[in-house]
Amino acid sequence: MKISIAGTGITKFGELWDASPRGLARVAVSKAIEDADIKKEEIGAVFVGNMLSGMLGSQEHLGAFFAEELGIAGVSATKIEGACASGGLAMHAAVTAVLSGLYETVLVLGVEKMTDHKPEDVASALMGAGSEEERLSGVSFPGLYALLARAHMDAFGTTEEQMASVAVKNHYHASLNPNAQFHNLLTIESVMKSSCVADPLKLYDCSPISDGAAAVILTGKKIRNGVSIIASCVATDTLSLSRRKSLTELSATREVSKKAYTQAGVTSKDIDIAEVHDCFSIAEIMALEDLGFFKKGHAAREIAKGHVTLGTSDRLVVNTSGGLKGCGHPVGATGVKQIVELVDQLKGRVGERQVKKSRIGLSHNVGGSGATAVVHILKK
Ligand code: COA
Repeated sequence: MKISIAGTGITKFGELWDASPRGLARVAVSKAIEDADIKKEEIGAVFVGNMLSGMLGSQEHLGAFFAEELGIAGVSATKIEGACASGGLAMHAAVTAVLSGLYETVLVLGVEKMTDHKPEDVASALMGAGSEEERLSGVSFPGLYALLARAHMDAFGTTEEQMASVAVKNHYHASLNPNAQFHNLLTIESVMKSSCVADPLKLYDCSPISDGAAAVILTGKKIRNGVSIIASCVATDTLSLSRRKSLTELSATREVSKKAYTQAGVTSKDIDIAEVHDCFSIAEIMALEDLGFFKKGHAAREIAKGHVTLGTSDRLVVNTSGGLKGCGHPVGATGVKQIVELVDQLKGRVGERQVKKSRIGLSHNVGGSGATAVVHILKK
């Protein structure tokens, strides 16, 4: 694929009470334009990843909304929605637009503002990603992932302490990321003692409610010092867990990663850094298995041993940004933030959390409880 990432920009993630979606977008996009060293007039199309603005903020029509806001009204502009995978899907749509030859340089913006709303309204809006019968039964996303956690524990003996180690690792990585929502370190004990959200998941097993924006400029032009996209793939599955063959894997993740490795001409062993979708601690464990990094049933103990932690792993480091757990999860922005983190790692500009040997990076963004999975593979 002849497509490069020319520039990236990101806001701080967190409870940003003073920020509006407009303000967040402006900050992320102006940083990306400056990083790419282009004029905004060079942007031929805009792809906005967002899930909740219509449901929570009554603002739809986000393509034209942000094109106007960014001072580039007139260009093609589209909102892409795929639950928590909206950002990843916006990236995929942008990649296909550039590869089609229709646009040379495009902007991907992921943006979400979740904290101005009542927690019960946010939880209910997030369930828009689930199936009708799940919504009618009153289950929440922590509840759905708790069911997956129970199935994994029953099948492989995965323990609550091993799940806690995902949160400990990702809060450690987040503590080194100035843009992360959380900078506090956790211990296995503090995770185990945190309040129960949906048994066996506790507060610190869950990603938080967050605000934030991230932006990426893609181009088909030959550029110096760009990072290449060598795979961009999507796969889907049933919305409802009750219609899945297995609850111990996300088959869309297995499917999309196979496609992506083939497209990129690499294997899972070639990946040095990965940003994976750890919306709940069990989700990172399942992702590392479904992406082919570890055999089924083995990831939890590998994570607990520190085998994907910065400074400890000599092979693969996972979620250096802090992941969704530590960096925060403004849902529509997450898939774009993953790309920003990988690009910044591959360009060697993340300071203390730099992975020394980083040549190839993989991002994995999931919508709902696994109904959409998006994988991108990037190369220096
Ligand atoms: N991890 C770490 N700390 C968290 C946290 C999390 N996930 N969520 C909240 N906190 C902290 C807050 O910062 C706050 O700390 P403070 O008292 O020092 O300010 C404290 O815990 C209480 O926060 P509050 O906002 O009252 O929490 P809550 O009980 O309303 O919400 C959850 C906690 C876990 C229910 C909520 O974060 C949640 O629903 N997460 C899942 C989001 C989701 O489903 N996303 C989609 C995934 S598919």
